[in-house]
Amino acid sequence: MNKPTPPATDAIHFYDPRTGAHGLPRNPFKSLVVPRPIGWISSWSKNGVANLGPYSFFNAIAETPPMVAFCSSRRPKSDDFKDSQLNAEETGEFVVNICTENLKEQMNISSAPYAADVDEFEKAGLTKGQCKNVKAPRVAEAAVALECKYYKTIALPNAPGEHSHVMVLGSVVGIHINKAILTDGMVDMTKFRPIARLGYWQYTVVDNAFWMEPPEAK
Ligand SMILES: Cc1cc2nc3c(=O)[nH]c(=O)nc-3n(C[C@H](O)[C@H](O)[C@H](O)COP(=O)(O)O)c2cc1C
Repeated sequence: MNKPTPPATDAIHFYDPRTGAHGLPRNPFKSLVVPRPIGWISSWSKNGVANLGPYSFFNAIAETPPMVAFCSSRRPKSDDFKDSQLNAEETGEFVVNICTENLKEQMNISSAPYAADVDEFEKAGLTKGQCKNVKAPRVAEAAVALECKYYKTIALPNAPGEHSHVMVLGSVVGIHINKAILTDGMVDMTKFRPIARLGYWQYTVVDNAFWMEPPEAK
């Protein structure tokens, strides 16, 4: 194992995000904590309209019991909450679908700011799959779907002049895995090929993996 060398101090670009002055052509923040998995959230509205939208401020946050969280901003130029947050809060349920490379165009279509009475499954040409432990629909084409019961919403601190973001937490109560992504009973990344968000308008595909056991396992 080679000893790594830290860069010289003057090789570091530093900025304080509280000032908003990052000193680069575009805000780099979303390019730094990468890749961010995409929680493709499906739900019903209280009026019975299906909804689907991608969220990359998203992750699994606990294993036992399994829990997930996604963070939602408000709609640009309005006070409106986004539909995924509202539906999760009003119906108590949502589904996290994992977007894979073959569904990237459909995911992108579902991110458009459609009104609450528009069904993004129809816009993106996707099929509603039945869940077992929640009524919310899942993306039937998705290789993985996590049925979730809404747990709580946490308001995040707001920047001056901005609406605060919220974090929506859910408990996973049902897990669907397409057996086609398994090899010997293990999830095979070369078959799964989930996509993830980088900064700007960049994405990546998980198409390889390496194995490294922790010191205590050796
Ligand atoms: C890959 C991707 C990731 C996104 N991540 C977020 C996010 O983390 N939080 C957010 O508020 N909006 C995010 N958006 C924008 C929402 O998907 C968009 O506002 C969408 O219209 C929300 O749909 P909804 O109102 O049906 O929930 C993302 C868009 C894309 C394409």
